[in-house]
Amino acid sequence: MSYKTVHAQSIQDPQTFWGEEAKHIHWEKPFDTVLDYSKPPFAHWFKGGLTNLCYNAVDRHLAQRGDQIALVAVSTETDIEKAYTFKELHAEVNRMAAILKANGVGKGDRVLIYMPMIAEASFAMLACARIGAIHSVVFGGFASHSLASRIEDATPKMIITAEAGMRGGKAVPYKPLLDEAIALSSYKPAKVLIVNRGLSEFVMVDGRDLDYTAERLAHLHAEVPVEWVDATHTSYILYTSGTTGKPKGVQRDTGGYAVALSSAMRLIFCGKPGETMFTTSDIGWVVGHSFIIYGPLINGTATIMYEGTPLRPDGGIWWSLVEKYKVSVMFSAPTAIRVLKKQDPAFLTKYDLSSLRTLFLAGEPLDEPTATWIHEAIGKPVVDNYWQTETGWPILAIQRGIEVMPHKFGSPGLPVFGYNMKLLDEATGEELGPDQKGVVAIEGPLPPGCMQTVWGDDARYVKTYWSTIPGKLIYSTFDWGIKDKDGYYFILGRTDDVINVAGHRLGTREIEESISSHANISEVAVVGIEDKLKGQVAIGFAIPKDASNVANLEAELMKTVDSQLGAVARPARVYIVTALPKTRSGKIVRRALQAVAEGRDPGDISTMEDQTVLAHIKTVIQESAKKA
Ligand code: PRX
Repeated sequence: MSYKTVHAQSIQDPQTFWGEEAKHIHWEKPFDTVLDYSKPPFAHWFKGGLTNLCYNAVDRHLAQRGDQIALVAVSTETDIEKAYTFKELHAEVNRMAAILKANGVGKGDRVLIYMPMIAEASFAMLACARIGAIHSVVFGGFASHSLASRIEDATPKMIITAEAGMRGGKAVPYKPLLDEAIALSSYKPAKVLIVNRGLSEFVMVDGRDLDYTAERLAHLHAEVPVEWVDATHTSYILYTSGTTGKPKGVQRDTGGYAVALSSAMRLIFCGKPGETMFTTSDIGWVVGHSFIIYGPLINGTATIMYEGTPLRPDGGIWWSLVEKYKVSVMFSAPTAIRVLKKQDPAFLTKYDLSSLRTLFLAGEPLDEPTATWIHEAIGKPVVDNYWQTETGWPILAIQRGIEVMPHKFGSPGLPVFGYNMKLLDEATGEELGPDQKGVVAIEGPLPPGCMQTVWGDDARYVKTYWSTIPGKLIYSTFDWGIKDKDGYYFILGRTDDVINVAGHRLGTREIEESISSHANISEVAVVGIEDKLKGQVAIGFAIPKDASNVANLEAELMKTVDSQLGAVARPARVYIVTALPKTRSGKIVRRALQAVAEGRDPGDISTMEDQTVLAHIKTVIQESAKKA
């Protein structure tokens, strides 16, 4: 069948399409209805069906491939490399599930996971799914304030962590940050489970903290039955940034997610059972949830978890893993490829890449030079795909498992099956024609696997995502785009205050709040500007309260962001200024700041209250460039 036919069927008759797709996963009890869309925009898929993510990812494969590798955890930081068969993974997940249960964690309880890329993190996620607990993984690069707001919102019974991660050969402590976050949070978890890697000193809190090694030994032979949950049962919450400073908890279901990932693995990524997939992301991001952990495993495909940089011990490390584990599907981000591009190209040809069929890239715009370079260097198709934390799996892609359609540079491709895409005029809500710029929107119902709601806040879900286009109940991606005459989409950046730094999604408002907390700051604006390597970087403009005391202010502000949000959110520069460009009603004109910082013409500034401010900002930037 052609792509066109499949896509059309998925939109015109979602019941039949997804009813068929659902046959690829295990249902303990069949569902009553494929789709309940009686209360738009809330879509409930496979209602009445009982299933379990962990069963589909692990137990289901035991009979056929129990002795095959399921997971390889590679750390080029600690030089630990360990492969787990499906049987071994099953045993580890059972142990972890037993620890959770013994400590009072049950169905529907939240467990926050704040961990580096080690095997135990995947045991923790799968163990939660096994017993119907809801996990919320927080990216290890986030610091105490980011963590605290997530702890308060998710109110986890237990937190699972490691005492430290490692980056570039240096231990990065996790436990002290977690202790600080718990102190900041008004909600306190009952238990904290710590995987002690022996990388850094830490203090155990009596009565609260548990040692994973001891707990694991106590539950070495545990068998914890799978908790069959309704398809609509929440599997996890994953926090992501938006326009306000408060991160949103993206709430995902169970059955719809399992079906969507199974379809994506077969029809987009073309990974086969018994093969290996290598996704270079982190479990703290959505790509890690879907294509390091659940997607490959549900499909019976082994997965690689990688702790380390793409350059240690050298720029060939990832390709050496492709050779060693006969990786057939690889998934990374454009930034990582741009990093590799600076290395000796010989690293890419040194290894046998014959097992590799396709390299997928997502998370940020894929520029033509990067796409061409990597395609020529490895001689494999490079497939861009566009999606979001909210959707959980690709929205736009060339779906090679259906039809190998031509690629167009700069375009992630065509709407994925299940997504009824529209390109709309922001002001009128009218649908736009070819080559007209508009907001990328998705007509409901969203397909299986997409977010169910904002955790604990249905109203915020409807208001944020479904109420921004005039006169229409339609999902906004908050991305600008255009569509060409062949239906290929091109993504042109966010319509809101979200920026994308090295494929990491960050909210400029959160960074502003952090900078504002410094005692000597009266006002601040943060914008994302273009960066050759990272796609974008954050730049701050801050007005001090006491202008006579600014010698070390920029460094102090960076430190503030580092300690509150994490180094991942640290702006590349914070310029100390005396004024910010504002409209007459007092709104900061971030677009003008961005233009000036990128060295572009800010365009029409007639609505600005004080026309001299931009000239001042330009001077500050120029002066500071001279000093550097
Ligand atoms: O702006 C789009 C950009 O990343 C945003 C979503 O980021 P996140 O929630 O972290 O999910 C990433 C999942 C891959 C989008 O709103 N984005 C993602 N993929 C692409 C992209 N921009 C251009 N091209 C892409 N392929």
